[in-house]
Amino acid sequence: MDTQVLERAKEHFAGLIEAQLERIERMKKDEGWVDYEKVKPIIIGVCWGDGIGPYICQQTQRILEFLLKPELESGKVVFKTIEGLTIENRAKHNKAIPDDVLEELKQCHVILKAPTTTPRKGDPWPNIESANVAMRKELDLFANVRPVKVPEQGIDWMFFRENTEGAYALGSNGINVTDDLAIDFTVTTAQGAERIIRLAFDYAKRTGINKVTVVTKANVVKTTDGRFLDMAREVAKDYPEVEWDDWYIDIMTAKLVDPKRRTQFRVMALPNLYGDILTDEAAEFQGGVGTAGSANIGKRYGMFEAIHGSAPRMVKEGRADYADPSSLIRAAAMMLNHIGFADRGKKLEMALDICGNFEQKLVVTGRSTGAKGSELADYLMETIQDPELEKRWQSYQPKTKAA
Ligand code: IPM
Ligand code: MG
Repeated sequence: MDTQVLERAKEHFAGLIEAQLERIERMKKDEGWVDYEKVKPIIIGVCWGDGIGPYICQQTQRILEFLLKPELESGKVVFKTIEGLTIENRAKHNKAIPDDVLEELKQCHVILKAPTTTPRKGDPWPNIESANVAMRKELDLFANVRPVKVPEQGIDWMFFRENTEGAYALGSNGINVTDDLAIDFTVTTAQGAERIIRLAFDYAKRTGINKVTVVTKANVVKTTDGRFLDMAREVAKDYPEVEWDDWYIDIMTAKLVDPKRRTQFRVMALPNLYGDILTDEAAEFQGGVGTAGSANIGKRYGMFEAIHGSAPRMVKEGRADYADPSSLIRAAAMMLNHIGFADRGKKLEMALDICGNFEQKLVVTGRSTGAKGSELADYLMETIQDPELEKRWQSYQPKTKAA
């Protein structure tokens, strides 16, 4: 055996372990959650992103400005545009997030982030790490919270996807040991598993849902997924009122398409990659990934994004004005809830349901035969101003069947 190859691999592995142990030490210094009521000003960073990003971001910011008018006037909230998170600038610095951009992000409390291009092999860009993944790690946004609802089918799911570990923690740090041997690494830490599982149980308890499903592949990926599941067993002891079960990702994926079974699932906690895949599948029932928002939450920062990509083809074909901003607007509603404006977050969510699902007076299709993103934004703002908004929303809710 070539000892040099072995030494190089060992060194690589040692480096990874060191970095993860350091990360654990940082997690142990838990400073608690930010209390936004006490923060003035709350700084909302806005990253316009690539492709259709600037188009859908502009519409989303318009709605936020409309909803937060009093707070913008009083100085409780300010917007900060962050210019540098574009693929051109990231490629120029050959970094997922250039240093000065990261500094700017860290000056904010929460960030509204439009889609950014994730290069892959063969693209004209250097093969840098995804900006989302880097931001989640840099700002320790450990919880990816993704709601999916289809009321008429009884679907009401809340996914708590672990966002900083699993296959993603070292997704860009695998090793080509030789030309024939490629190895990636996946990570579970006790601290990382505990905080996401606790968040899911807290949510289930606080909302009275009292039901959590933990999804792993612990029968095969025994060490890391096994640790995640063991942690669930531990955490569950602190929540005797919350009923919980565990499923393997393969059968869970199948059961989500079973109309008889899927309505029993309510709150899901799962490692990063499974969460990535399952939430795309889940969003499809709701009308596709373009309709789902995603909150990336840590104790100090929060980042809110659309769950779809930057769709460069739409820009190339001149269709960017027709891109659907719903996913980013839903993320903005989650942001409002997160920073203490749940009244407005709720209104925005109701308007999204009414305009996007129930009434559909205009429909954004991504083509010039459909409505423009700006027209949808107008429709949403008009709907929010309806004094009968809640009643109007209620009228579309399926009546609960008598027992
Ligand atoms: C998501 C996306 C990202 C992920 C990509 C763009 C790196 O699919 O937010 O789900 O895999 O997490
Ligand atoms: Mg995804």
